[in-house]
Amino acid sequence: MVHLPKMKPAPPLIDPERMTPYVDPLPRPEVAKPLGKRLNPSRKEQVPFYRIPIREFFSKIHRDVQPTRFWGFGNSMPGPTIEARSGEEILIDWPNQLPAKHFLPIDHTIMGAGKGLPESRTVVHVHGGRVPPESDGWPEAWYAPGKSATYHYPNKQDAAMLWYHDHAMGINRLNICAGMAGLYVIRDSFEDALNLPKGEYEIPLVLMDRLIGTDGQIYYPVSQFPDAPWIPEYTGNATLINGKLLPYLDVEPRKYRFRILNAANSRFYFLSLGNEPAFQQIGTDQGLLAAPTAVPRLAISPGERADVVVDFAEHRGERILLNNLFVPLMQFRVASESVADPSALPSTLRAIPPIAETGAIRTRQLTLEEVDNVLGDPLVHVLDGKHWHDPVSEKPVLGTTEIWELLNLTEDAHPIHLHLVRFRILDRRPIDVDARIYDKKVVYTGDAVPPDANEAGWKDTVRATPGANTRIMVKFEGYTGRYVWHCHILEHEDNEMMRPYEVVAPPKG
Ligand code: C2O
Ligand code: CU
Ligand code: CU
Repeated sequence: MVHLPKMKPAPPLIDPERMTPYVDPLPRPEVAKPLGKRLNPSRKEQVPFYRIPIREFFSKIHRDVQPTRFWGFGNSMPGPTIEARSGEEILIDWPNQLPAKHFLPIDHTIMGAGKGLPESRTVVHVHGGRVPPESDGWPEAWYAPGKSATYHYPNKQDAAMLWYHDHAMGINRLNICAGMAGLYVIRDSFEDALNLPKGEYEIPLVLMDRLIGTDGQIYYPVSQFPDAPWIPEYTGNATLINGKLLPYLDVEPRKYRFRILNAANSRFYFLSLGNEPAFQQIGTDQGLLAAPTAVPRLAISPGERADVVVDFAEHRGERILLNNLFVPLMQFRVASESVADPSALPSTLRAIPPIAETGAIRTRQLTLEEVDNVLGDPLVHVLDGKHWHDPVSEKPVLGTTEIWELLNLTEDAHPIHLHLVRFRILDRRPIDVDARIYDKKVVYTGDAVPPDANEAGWKDTVRATPGANTRIMVKFEGYTGRYVWHCHILEHEDNEMMRPYEVVAPPKG
């Protein structure tokens, strides 16, 4: 008989079902303003320079909840939105101004989170950015309060909604849970010409769930092992949208563009709108799809983005709920006076090239595995059986294309993200998990399923479904150097489900 120490009891939590809903308007994160121009060291040009401090602040998530402590960017959670143009480089200085002591429970047994390191270390990564390695937010390139890092972002990529967040080794899940996330929107003239809803009719929706105590504070549970408090997943009782619980939004009866980000630690969202209308999804992680696709129920895993258009024209005077499964998250209040709508929802959006598998110069099989403790609880998740500190095994050559086969041997879906690159999903196909574990063989047990219509564009994060081979085709463009790939369930990522990879220069001659 194993004797377990008693778990620390959870504090009393708020009950969103008993709170007055839709009393707070949906906030829109402010747009970051450059401080001026600075010399870009690499190309010796004057480029816009931003400074976004990382600090502690308090913010009201709901009218009836005490102000919540956040650690985030600027003064708000999500932080200020970066508005960038494709091809126009910017510099951002990210000063760490956090207090010395972390307010969420650090597990010092986790890789890279040993005792004696500064608790409130941080480093910033732009998720989805094609960024040189020294500005990508390498997990071990964290810095302590009082220090800063100035990163440069070339923005040489198509229009897309990216996001920035902390990436500090071993405490990433805690830092993002504390509030360290914001949006980074890249625009280009091609997208501008489509006449999609814009300005006040283009609204980001940043979703994340948190456990919120009756004192208004973020709670992060611990395991039953006092010296190893890591937990394998974090799900909250309250979903915040742009930092508010159960907000409402007044809308006109016309088209809106909503840019949705799942910034949760672990939770997958399945979004729908009360009765009608359906989402018309126009884009995914790395920009526009080939054509709009009607999505009645939108599945979005941690790290993924969905760009959708919703037309409220037929719903004058109605109240429409945004739901996750059957739980309401927010309310749209459609005005009753009809309005002119000069925006468009074009029937085709952009050319997405067909996938030619023959373009790949190699295929890698990479497993996703879970290792359990004696009680059958997950202890650690690993990529291809390797740990963070094992030598780099994936070294694609710059400019080449590879197929990565993500063999998910676990019982859970893992959203897998590669830094630097964009990719396409080829298919998902069920495999015999035991055959892979015991005989190292890939035995298919069903047919290959093509990606959903709303995944058939450029992606940077892919849901690797349990017991299946999820195949992606990746061109390694941009820069040589070290990057990471990882599961975007942050609890997994922090505990070894992250690996370095290195883009190498093509051999000479
Ligand atoms: Cu969202 Cu390694 O990033
Ligand atoms: Cu990333
Ligand atoms: Cu995972």
